[in-house]
Amino acid sequence: MTSSIFDRAQTSARFIRDRINSDVDVAVVLGSGLGAFAETLEDKAIVPYEEIPDFARSTVEGHSGRLVVGTLPETSISVAVMQGRFHYYEGYSLDEVTLPIRAFGAMGVKKLALTNAAGGVNHSFKAGDLMLISDHINLMMLSPLRGQHDNRLGERFPDMSEVYSREYRRIAKEVAAEQGVRLTEGIYMSLQGPNYETPAEIRMMRLLGADAVGMSTVPEAIVARQMGMKTLGISLITNAAAGIEDAPINHSEVMEMGHRVSNQFCELLTKIIVRM
Ligand code: HPA
Repeated sequence: MTSSIFDRAQTSARFIRDRINSDVDVAVVLGSGLGAFAETLEDKAIVPYEEIPDFARSTVEGHSGRLVVGTLPETSISVAVMQGRFHYYEGYSLDEVTLPIRAFGAMGVKKLALTNAAGGVNHSFKAGDLMLISDHINLMMLSPLRGQHDNRLGERFPDMSEVYSREYRRIAKEVAAEQGVRLTEGIYMSLQGPNYETPAEIRMMRLLGADAVGMSTVPEAIVARQMGMKTLGISLITNAAAGIEDAPINHSEVMEMGHRVSNQFCELLTKIIVRM
């Protein structure tokens, strides 16, 4: 019999802790093209995912597949950064997709920053904009909490009325204003992917209240909520969603936008984390 999710998270957490030899204050998950943030850390320890017990492998271009732990420059804040995440569309179960979040929880991490690349559904968004996630709509239609319940993971029916911390959103807006960075706010809608959406689907999503669309983040945020972690969510709008502009969408363009805004994104995220 395979071990329980709780046991797998404990095993991964123990392994990571032994390798990094320090506590972690904040965990960060980096989306497509946003991997550069990990390079800004000091005194880094690097743990490839393939070495961590039960971790899946990153199969997507633009996701390095390693955990980078270090301190934020000029602070003593210890940050564990996932340079690449696991997605449902890669064929992983949501247990596998969210194991890293469970492992961070088992390590005692209470603060989480989830980032992603997303398509802009809201007509006022431009490629290159950063969007604070105020809430999500789970159009993946799957919950990572489905299955036999284990009280050690959290509640059976966790509340989802504040998945993305109000306090972290306030901090993010303050920092963006100070930095003169345009930071919009909106609803992230998740789909299974991996195909991009049709124009008709995007029109539907807009009617349903979506501002941005992507293929990640929501399962991680739900698990984090169940574990009582406080979560910040930031989307980089890499492209106008399907049908808004008369142009096809491709993964290279998504990653290219990540590289273009990288410096601004790293600076903003660093300053937000300092105040989390
Ligand atoms: N749709 C879904 N996911 C995405 C997109 C998109 O347009 N851009 C980046 N990730």
